[in-house]
Amino acid sequence: MKALILVGGFGTRLRPLTLSIPKPLVEFANKPMILHQIEALVKVGVTDVVLAVNYKPEVMASVLKKYEEKFGITITFSVEEEPLGTAGPLALAAHILGKDNDPFFVLNADVTCDYPFKQMLEFHNAHGAEGTILATKVEEPSKYGVIVTEENSPKIKCFVEKPIEFVGNRINAGIYLFNPAILSRIQLRPTSIEKEIFPEMADDEQLYTFDLEGYWMDVGQPKDFIAGTCLYLSNLAKTQPELLTNPATSSFVNGGNVLVHPTAKIGSGCKIGPNVTIGPNVVIGDGVRLSKCVIMEDVVVKSFAFVRNSIVGWHSTVGSWSRLDGITVLGDDVHINDEIYVNGASVLPHKSISANVTEPRIVM
Ligand code: GDD
Ligand code: MG
Repeated sequence: MKALILVGGFGTRLRPLTLSIPKPLVEFANKPMILHQIEALVKVGVTDVVLAVNYKPEVMASVLKKYEEKFGITITFSVEEEPLGTAGPLALAAHILGKDNDPFFVLNADVTCDYPFKQMLEFHNAHGAEGTILATKVEEPSKYGVIVTEENSPKIKCFVEKPIEFVGNRINAGIYLFNPAILSRIQLRPTSIEKEIFPEMADDEQLYTFDLEGYWMDVGQPKDFIAGTCLYLSNLAKTQPELLTNPATSSFVNGGNVLVHPTAKIGSGCKIGPNVTIGPNVVIGDGVRLSKCVIMEDVVVKSFAFVRNSIVGWHSTVGSWSRLDGITVLGDDVHINDEIYVNGASVLPHKSISANVTEPRIVM
């Protein structure tokens, strides 16, 4: 089977992390975001993965090419000269997506969930129409694509991208299954699948929706990245608790949902959790308190520091008795001196902070 992952765009909403690496490579729960998706696709038998890129393809290729051999798949980089939107990339890769009559998956690269690909495939084959959109319910639908169906029917009546007025709260989860017939609707030019293709397919009664059970989050901005990490860890606690640090036997876990890379070192008297991920080679000093936060590779958190509701980027240092809070995001190689308070700051790579930042702002 085939799949195309939309990995274009500059990931500006996930800055400062995306100033250093492309969004799909940012580690989510200690693994590049896109690898979660590729692994789930491989599980249902996908062997042909197309990555639709328009930014830094070399970086992505160097990191992802090794997975071809590991998973026994082909990864093709379909590179756009100009951004082709969310539908144009399908036309650019039509020679791969349309090479046989099997349906193919299309994924937004920034969504996390339990990827119910197998169930979607069964549903798609059963209804026989051109497309299936995975749907979830949210409280604030205005920043998503909204799906409207007849009552108790999975057939989509209309699709409204980022509605200004409320039309419903069942939204597009950014995961699709299409028959190759969709390719005849898409031309090789910048095109929005949500605004130009889905409404037409709905009019033709060729679009169905499959409800996602369980968690879902678009992790394309820091607040949602942290929230998505919490949801992912809570799900892991239910499905594969052996991957998390066991609260019953650990001296530092507080409240569960703590994922620690085996190469990380944790000092004594720490209180870590709930909802924390700690990456490779991280060194956590004594008496550190971490909750609802992401600590990336090679970070040093010195003794008695406090980090909550924040992301600490690669190679950064948090000084002793310092405190990060309020969705602070440190880019690559940021250094926070001892006894500093940082609230809601977004700190660009390679900066040192030696004075308190008490209100949310960008530090450059
Ligand atoms: N190759 C390529 N080229 N990819 C692109 C381009 C492009 O020009 N523009 C955007 N993408 C990719 C992004 O990398 C992302 O994976 C996906 O297309 C969706 O773009 P976003 O910028 O993240 O869109 P959104 O989050 O505002 O809305 C989309 O996702 C929602 C779910 O999270 C829409 O599909 C909504 O309908 C949906 O509800
Ligand atoms: Mg998005």
